[in-house]
Amino acid sequence: MSVADRPIAVIILAAGKGTRMKSRTAKVLQPLAGRPMLGYALATAEALCPEHIVVVVGRDAETVEERFAGRANFVRQEPQRGTGHAVLTARDALADFRGDVLILYGDTPLLRPETLRSMSELRAETDAALVVLTAEVDVRGIIVRDANGRVVRIVEAPDATPAELEIAERNTGVYLLDSEWLWKTLSQVGDDNEQGEIYLTDILEISVREGGRVEALPLAEPSESLGVDNRAQLAQAAKLLRERKLAELMEAGVSIVDPDSTHIDSDVRIGRDSTIEPGCVIQGNASLGDGVRVKPGCVIEGDCEIGDDAQIGPNAHLRPGTRLGPGVRIGNFVEVKNSILGAGVKADHLSYIGDADVGAGASFGAGSIVVNYDGITKSRSTIGEGAFIGCNANLIAPVTIQANSFVAAGSTITQDVPTDALAVGRARQRNVEGWVARRRRKPSSSPDGDGTR
Ligand code: UD1
Repeated sequence: MSVADRPIAVIILAAGKGTRMKSRTAKVLQPLAGRPMLGYALATAEALCPEHIVVVVGRDAETVEERFAGRANFVRQEPQRGTGHAVLTARDALADFRGDVLILYGDTPLLRPETLRSMSELRAETDAALVVLTAEVDVRGIIVRDANGRVVRIVEAPDATPAELEIAERNTGVYLLDSEWLWKTLSQVGDDNEQGEIYLTDILEISVREGGRVEALPLAEPSESLGVDNRAQLAQAAKLLRERKLAELMEAGVSIVDPDSTHIDSDVRIGRDSTIEPGCVIQGNASLGDGVRVKPGCVIEGDCEIGDDAQIGPNAHLRPGTRLGPGVRIGNFVEVKNSILGAGVKADHLSYIGDADVGAGASFGAGSIVVNYDGITKSRSTIGEGAFIGCNANLIAPVTIQANSFVAAGSTITQDVPTDALAVGRARQRNVEGWVARRRRKPSSSPDGDGTR
């Protein structure tokens, strides 16, 4: 970002209590399309390559700092006495900084870096002391212009006159201004208002009074300024972020068969020529290669990695720690967790593969299960290349099934199986001749069989 190559510092306000979320979790940590909400403002700030990012935290400060450690300087605002007070809290952290300061909120996750760059360009073009981002949205700060259309102040709705309340142009809360101008004007702000707080918005009127030019940049897409104060707005923001993500993926060559029923988190990566069919949910940091087909109704969670040309589903569940090689086939009602499956592995129906390392070309018959948990501990198993696991087999972990071996259907395998061996671990079948006819004659008893009544 450059205003004549001026360095930039970003202050993100995130100390508000967020009481309307009615949550045990701080508002800026609420999950939103796969990231804690503050992650969006931080990513937007990072895209501008600033010299400093300062996040003003209040509620659950320690947890927020821990979650985003290394990505910003954190300063604590206690008590919270308004947006102006919050910015003043960041002053010491920026004591040596000279350049432009951009002020953002931690609960405004949809802002795009391009919008902020436009603010920077406007400031450079007009030599404005302050640029404020505005939108026709329902927020408290009302943009008041004079007869010549120049912005003269922001008035908060509770302090506004009926005529001012009619004004549609509102303050999004995003400002760009010179650092020295910021500290000079902010030090003059009092708390003589309806809420008895130090309002950051008052720096506008002071700027105008001191002869500084104030420019407003109206947002082309007002939803970018959506602030999240409650659960309904959280859901609205998530929907918009998903739409954005799907548009990006389609633009990059991914087919989304039914965008309305497809939920893909912001940090998911999907290669070109992949197809996501209706009703799929792909979360977290999942990464899908090229040419992957995800059939309807699949859930892919966490850090899954899926190789090129794999086929998943319908109705499959891939859980964290799943790594699938190229061409793997995971069919209906198959769950895979914390397992590495080599190229071309097939598990087409009704299987659970948990905590397993599976060699290329191995195959799981319908209903086969890797029994990874004995009720106390979880253990890992190894299934070698080309091994064939018959239908309804239970592989009791820890166990090693070596390459190219064959596990008979219905077996419960508790011992390692050597290469090329057949393992049979099931009761031998016996046929009781004439049993049905005898039973028909004596219907009240079942002398030989194991029938139940
Ligand atoms: C603020 C603006 C208003 C604008 C609106 C846009 C002021 C006085 N008003 O109003 O003009 O239209 O945002 O959404 O600035 N925060 C702190 N510490 C505090 C108070 C707030 O960090 O002491 C943070 C909050 O966590 C939040 C942001 O500042 O991220 C805005 O606070 P909020 O209370 O939502 O501001 P509004 O009253 O809605």
